[in-house]
Amino acid sequence: MMDARYRNLFSPFRLGDLSIRNRLVMAPMSTGLASLTGAVTPQQIAFYRARAAGGVGLLIVEFTCVQRKFGISERHQLSLDTVENLDGHCRLVAAIRREGAVPCLQLQHGGMAAKRQLIEGGVPLGPSDVPGSRGEGGLAARAMSGTEIECIVECFGRAAELGVAAGYEAFELHGAHGYLLSSFLSPLTNRRDDAWGGDEEGRLRFPATAIARVKQAIGKRPLIYRVSADEFAPGGLCIEDMERIAPRLVAAGVDAIHVSTGNGWHSMEKVVEPMSAPEGWRLPYARRVKAAAGVAVIAVGQIRWPETAEDAIVRGDADLIALGRPLLADPEWGNKARRGDRDDIRPCTSCNYCNTIGLAGLGIGCAENPLTGRELDLPFDAGSRRGARAVVVGAGPGGLAAALMLDAAGYRAELHESRAMVGGGLIASAAPPFKDKLNWYLDFLKRRLARSGVRMLLQSRPGLAALRDPRPEIIVLAAGASPVQLPIEGLDGDSVFDAYEILMGDESWRPQPGSAPVLVYGGGEAGVETAEYVAELGLPVLLVTRSPAAKLARSAELIYRKVLRARIAANQGIQVVDNTCITRIAGEVVTLRSSDGSTTDVRACRVLLAQGREPDRGLAQRLAEAGLPFAVIGDNRRGGRIGDAVLDAYEMVKALCAAERPQRELNC
Ligand SMILES: Cc1cc2nc3c(=O)[nH]c(=O)nc-3n(C[C@H](O)[C@H](O)[C@H](O)COP(=O)(O)OP(=O)(O)OC[C@H]3O[C@@H](n4cnc5c(N)ncnc54)[C@H](O)[C@@H]3O)c2cc1C
Ligand SMILES: Cc1cc2nc3c(=O)[nH]c(=O)nc-3n(C[C@H](O)[C@H](O)[C@H](O)COP(=O)(O)O)c2cc1C
Ligand code: SF4
Repeated sequence: MMDARYRNLFSPFRLGDLSIRNRLVMAPMSTGLASLTGAVTPQQIAFYRARAAGGVGLLIVEFTCVQRKFGISERHQLSLDTVENLDGHCRLVAAIRREGAVPCLQLQHGGMAAKRQLIEGGVPLGPSDVPGSRGEGGLAARAMSGTEIECIVECFGRAAELGVAAGYEAFELHGAHGYLLSSFLSPLTNRRDDAWGGDEEGRLRFPATAIARVKQAIGKRPLIYRVSADEFAPGGLCIEDMERIAPRLVAAGVDAIHVSTGNGWHSMEKVVEPMSAPEGWRLPYARRVKAAAGVAVIAVGQIRWPETAEDAIVRGDADLIALGRPLLADPEWGNKARRGDRDDIRPCTSCNYCNTIGLAGLGIGCAENPLTGRELDLPFDAGSRRGARAVVVGAGPGGLAAALMLDAAGYRAELHESRAMVGGGLIASAAPPFKDKLNWYLDFLKRRLARSGVRMLLQSRPGLAALRDPRPEIIVLAAGASPVQLPIEGLDGDSVFDAYEILMGDESWRPQPGSAPVLVYGGGEAGVETAEYVAELGLPVLLVTRSPAAKLARSAELIYRKVLRARIAANQGIQVVDNTCITRIAGEVVTLRSSDGSTTDVRACRVLLAQGREPDRGLAQRLAEAGLPFAVIGDNRRGGRIGDAVLDAYEMVKALCAAERPQRELNC
């Protein structure tokens, strides 16, 4: 049954001769799951099969390098520049088609963004020379010769031919984000004065030649071109430029335009935006490109809910809607929306944990969905231990995920939370400005909890006796961390508060209007976010950090950090005092000592401490002494992220269930 609210989103679409079952597209996302030779792996096939089965119409397979020698951008990137990699693509295409989606291949050359350690000569190729940052006369990128350009055009064509042989039904040229094709189009990077540069026509010549060659290779199959509608970079392309360029791309032969934004060098926050970006903010860009180009347009970016997608189609902003990260969080997004189970969609919060692990070379993953990238793992089953007692201590994201997974595996799960509400650090994480999307995840977990068989015990801090009787199969310690104790005189004063508790909802700290500034002590992510939270209430803030200001929020996710630091710098209500520590608090007088040894007294009506948190190992120690089976996860194991806690929970349940599975005989 289709939910009538989303009937346009789930109406079929024709792109040239191609029939697509609905308007939902999976955006290309590098999985880091390819082999070291760029071949498709079984994990990748399982990853894409799950998304195809989840209901998308068109599935764009991640960027696939057309010339490994000079263009590879990631160690585990797909490539299709040799017939040796064809077989894997044939299997991938078959898997996607079997699930009813149309397989489309994104063709890419890294250009200036190729990985220098992996390419021949170690200097990436670009339209123009880019001097190295060390000033040794070396180059960060070197200008390609005309022959090299023609050779790469041929690489695009050959890869497309191999793609046709693999069975792909549509193709996309990656002309966005600063990779080779876009670097030729952009005046920011193309400084050539020959036929491949100069004016707009010259800058378009390489993309147009590649389009023509790929069209020749793919025949009547549709060709999509991905653009950055606005590079959000001084001197780069903006939407007005793209309104002129889009019809030229169409004239060159493209059948549809995929409207992305941003440039990997200058504005990564517009490529994979952090959670501060409003829902659907890019749709006006798609609309303008559509009006200018007169061909089908795919909108992408920060579209999280079916109603946003439906409205965009109805308004005519775009013909198709691509989802990237939402399909990492929930591969079943399409099916759930289609049948009206909107509230069952595991919501992507744009936390960018997926990017962090991708950049660390750990493949694809999602903070909320540990199965992403692990689709070949066996489903959990408690086996002969079904119904056995499993106790989880702490209902933050780690504990909630653990209890839900234990319940799903068949254990009799019991979840203890010392506070009156569930959520733990997820509540504190969602409290600062621009982070409320994290509440989507908390609400989702609460809904899952309500529907589960987990026995929830609030305001419960179980002691050894309650934990051991009846003997549990496992005790999961997901109790998070406690504030680090500081050797500062006056910490027990009435004006001193734990910043974490304030973000958890403690209201008792609020000063009278007109009071002296609020001093936040700590330049880590929690301190900086607390400063922003307090400033938003209209209170003046002194943000005191022991480190240099350049290191503010240093452990925050990179893209988010850039945006956060820019906001702090622009915030008139926050004064940053760096390289400074507190030595004494006496009423409203706080003594500061700077790294040069000098001291000053400042007035502060409140001191909010954000000096880090550390796990309390006491309960683990007692469980070990009592000989009870236990596992420690999340922040109770080591300081980390929501995704780390959820992944720990997954690994713990997986190990528990694996212990139940009969050992297969080894042939070695
Ligand atoms: C200000 C701030 C912002 C953050 N922002 C982000 C972010 O944007 N993205 C991100 O990924 N991470 C962020 N983090 C980190 C993130 O909140 C944690 O990594 C995450 O919450 C850890 O989850 P957890 O389940 O291990 O522990 P917690 O979330 O800390 O949960 C532990 C729970 O156990 C309960 N508990 C403690 N002792 C007991 C006991 N004896 N019995 C019963 N219950 C007990 C606690 O009350 C708590 O509810 C942020 C942290 C802070 C402080
Ligand atoms: C892990 C990850 C990998 C990505 N890889 C690619 C890629 O291979 N090619 C590409 O054009 N865009 C890539 N993107 C960008 C996405 O296609 C998409 O444009 C972006 O994530 C914004 O959409 P979303 O908000 O729906 O995630 C990637 C994004 C992520 C999060
Ligand atoms: S890790 Fe965060 S941003 Fe990435 S898909 Fe999951 S919820 Fe979305």
